[in-house]
Amino acid sequence: MSPDPSVSGGTSAGAMTADDIRRAYLDFFVARGHHVIPWAPLVPRDDPTTLFNGSGMQQLVPNLLGEPHPDGTRLTDSQPCLRAQDIDEVGDNRHTTFFEMLGNWSLGDYFKSEQIPWFWEFLTDVVGLDPARIYVSCYSGNPEFGIPKDTESADIWTGLFDAAGLDAERVDLGTAARGAELGTGGARIAFYGAKNWWCRMGSAEAMPVGEPGGPDTEVFYLYPEVAHDPAYGAHCHHNCDCGRFIELGNSVFTEFRRVAGPDGEPAGFAPLPRRNVDYGGGLERIAAAALDTPDVFEVSLLRPVVAKLEELSGSAYSTGETHALRVIADHLRGATFLAVEGVRPSNKEQGYVMRRLVRRAIRYAYELGLTDAFLEELVPVVADVYHDSYPVVAARRDDAIAALVKEERSFRRTLTRGIGVLHTLAQRGGTLTGHELFTLHDTYGFPVELSLEEAGRHDVTVAPGWRGEFDADMAEQRARSRAAAAKK
Ligand code: GLY
Repeated sequence: MSPDPSVSGGTSAGAMTADDIRRAYLDFFVARGHHVIPWAPLVPRDDPTTLFNGSGMQQLVPNLLGEPHPDGTRLTDSQPCLRAQDIDEVGDNRHTTFFEMLGNWSLGDYFKSEQIPWFWEFLTDVVGLDPARIYVSCYSGNPEFGIPKDTESADIWTGLFDAAGLDAERVDLGTAARGAELGTGGARIAFYGAKNWWCRMGSAEAMPVGEPGGPDTEVFYLYPEVAHDPAYGAHCHHNCDCGRFIELGNSVFTEFRRVAGPDGEPAGFAPLPRRNVDYGGGLERIAAAALDTPDVFEVSLLRPVVAKLEELSGSAYSTGETHALRVIADHLRGATFLAVEGVRPSNKEQGYVMRRLVRRAIRYAYELGLTDAFLEELVPVVADVYHDSYPVVAARRDDAIAALVKEERSFRRTLTRGIGVLHTLAQRGGTLTGHELFTLHDTYGFPVELSLEEAGRHDVTVAPGWRGEFDADMAEQRARSRAAAAKK
């Protein structure tokens, strides 16, 4: 692949770029009566329950529960999201910690019969995806909670597939495990249970009292040239993780609220006063589909960053260094957005995640032979990608670069020595104790997860009780610093 950093990504002639798709998406929904709302900061201002904004609906929870929104009942935006919990998944062709989610919402306004055809129209007519490669899932219902199977959504999809001359067979799978066991027999509409229930907590059972949620319908794009990987089960199905089907987005029908039983504990569900729609679409995944590639690192938001890394390291994305290049590009993009928002690397909360992203990226770069400082050259490429669509990135570019370069300098001072310590341990076939993990953290700046990862890579075992020792050392060090501060 070309190492030219001016490449804008992609191979499919005439395909829309991610910037084109974002713009076209907002225009599409404005033309359907929606108001474009400002995206919420990555670090939520008034929500101590989460470190980062991980979905478009986060800022609209009160409105989904019934509070009127000043901009009306039809809203749209493109929301930068960060899902730090996905950090270990990064490296394949579709997982990233940072991504943009295209959103549209109906707050008690339109419902399934408008939303599903718009979702389809946007993907097929505007972005130009191949209708024959679109597969969908719907909710199979939950008798325990008295929530019925969503045949209404399935019927709307059937109408759309029929009109496109596509057969629309249905299959009831219930669980992903059953999907892997049975396959879909080629069916286009698959019903699942828990997989098609959406709420911030991940599952209906985990929802606290008062939390909104509901059934969703999800759209997958089939990459027929990707062979099913039997490691994921005997058969492929819509929710299989082998990469043949990639989810592009979901429309959640947020019409329920978790309620308490007589003991005050979360029990069943009650209907919300108004039925809402909460659509979330992965911009990078849709842009990749437009390019007819399952690889989100090919899209115009990530490809220039990968290209610059290829140039700096002399590595080639297409020949073996793919995983490391993806990790570095993803992590530095997330860290750049955090820096733009004013987050600074530290040992707690958002700052800790940012530190982990930067240090992990540097560690991966080291492996590619990028042993000298490189962020001063790379971060401007990330910032330039977002320069026009995110004015805040343009405005705070220099501050963000400076913050990341500072962190790089601080980590580099101890990186080589820290790696040396780990290698020595590996050679003596040792077991890493919690005290040693603390030293790696405290003296060499290795976030503990990074040391654990390194240990795994070099077949160093970790003592079963490491966490207790590590936490005790950390608590002792905090007490020492408090005493030192009190003396000043
Ligand atoms: N539409 C909800 C989400 O995927 O975040």
